[in-house]
Amino acid sequence: MKILLNKPYITSKEEKYIVEALHSARHSGNNAFGKKAIDHLKGKYGFSEIFLTPSCTSAMEMGALLANISPGDEVILPSYTFSSTVNAIVIFGGKPVFCEIDSETLNIDVTKIEELITSKTKMILPIDYAGISCEIDAIMDIANKHNLIVMQDCAQSFGGFFKGKPNGSIPHLAAFSFHETKNMNAGGEGGGLVVNMPEQIQRAYFMQEKGTDRRLVLDGVKSKYSWVEKGSSYLLSDILAAGLLGQLECEDDILAKRKQVTEVYYDVFTDYKNAGKLNIYIPQKHIQTNHHAFWVVFDTSENRTKFMSRLREIDIHVYIGYLPLHSSPMGIKFGYKAEDLHITESIASRVVRLPFYAGMADEGLEYTKVNMQKVLKEIYG
Ligand SMILES: Cc1ncc(COP(=O)(O)O)c(C=O)c1O
Repeated sequence: MKILLNKPYITSKEEKYIVEALHSARHSGNNAFGKKAIDHLKGKYGFSEIFLTPSCTSAMEMGALLANISPGDEVILPSYTFSSTVNAIVIFGGKPVFCEIDSETLNIDVTKIEELITSKTKMILPIDYAGISCEIDAIMDIANKHNLIVMQDCAQSFGGFFKGKPNGSIPHLAAFSFHETKNMNAGGEGGGLVVNMPEQIQRAYFMQEKGTDRRLVLDGVKSKYSWVEKGSSYLLSDILAAGLLGQLECEDDILAKRKQVTEVYYDVFTDYKNAGKLNIYIPQKHIQTNHHAFWVVFDTSENRTKFMSRLREIDIHVYIGYLPLHSSPMGIKFGYKAEDLHITESIASRVVRLPFYAGMADEGLEYTKVNMQKVLKEIYG
């Protein structure tokens, strides 16, 4: 049996909605299905405003534009993330200031943020690794003290909560991914930008629509639209929004399946953690996961390699996770060296991301469990 790292999960709804969208007279962004998906999101999660975008990458670019990231502005973010997080600010001339991660959550270490703030700092850009929220309230406290904007990269954490509040509802800006590898898949690619700054919402509409005030024409305020702002095309096609709506309406069922995967992995790895052989994330009371992913930090990179290669031999796909950005070719161009962030480098050399998708609950979970148990026994006895 082949177990992939990710596999899109399809419910009974997407096909019906996508066909309906195809036969409608409107396929472009912010049409009937986009509006329904937005209403659903605002109704369920109480976001002030959410813009559906072609990806999380473009949502963060739109957020950086909205935050006026300009050449020379410094942005504090973890190095342990995807290139999209950093590119969102680099394309506008922003300078990344990489911060260490916490070795239990792999999210930004909030105790190390303040020492990185200078007169040029404009934004803090944390991520929610594997669906576990960063310490967003402490980050907001720091940001408010220093008058900074927080954009939370919630690519992986849609549907989770921090202290009872939905991920994305606390910072100034938050970006979700609805890519096929995420819990909610808009049909391959998709994203959303939450704007929790009421005074910026109209500007965001203009930026999403190529810098025009087309929104005012749609709202019947003006008869012709014109170029009023900087902007680009940050719209999700209505055909993909139809797919997203189908998934959103089945979110609870998808989550229940993903929870079963999490539980099986805790079953496999907890004894090894208790014996001090490896590390796994222990759930914290104030954080409600969306069961996006499961990762293991091995004691040595050699044991990681053994685990990965034994599973790969039998077609169970496990993955190393992110390569730190600070020691990547672009990070080095920004003046960083691998030694600058010891914890990030050490964790990145030992972490493994396990196969994780809703459909595993129906097929493949037991097979994966048995084989992982076998390999762990071979490694640790
Ligand atoms: C932390 C993080 N940010 C951003 C992205 C990019 O998301 P998208 O593919 O929707 O642009 C990813 C993709 O996995 C991610 O892990």
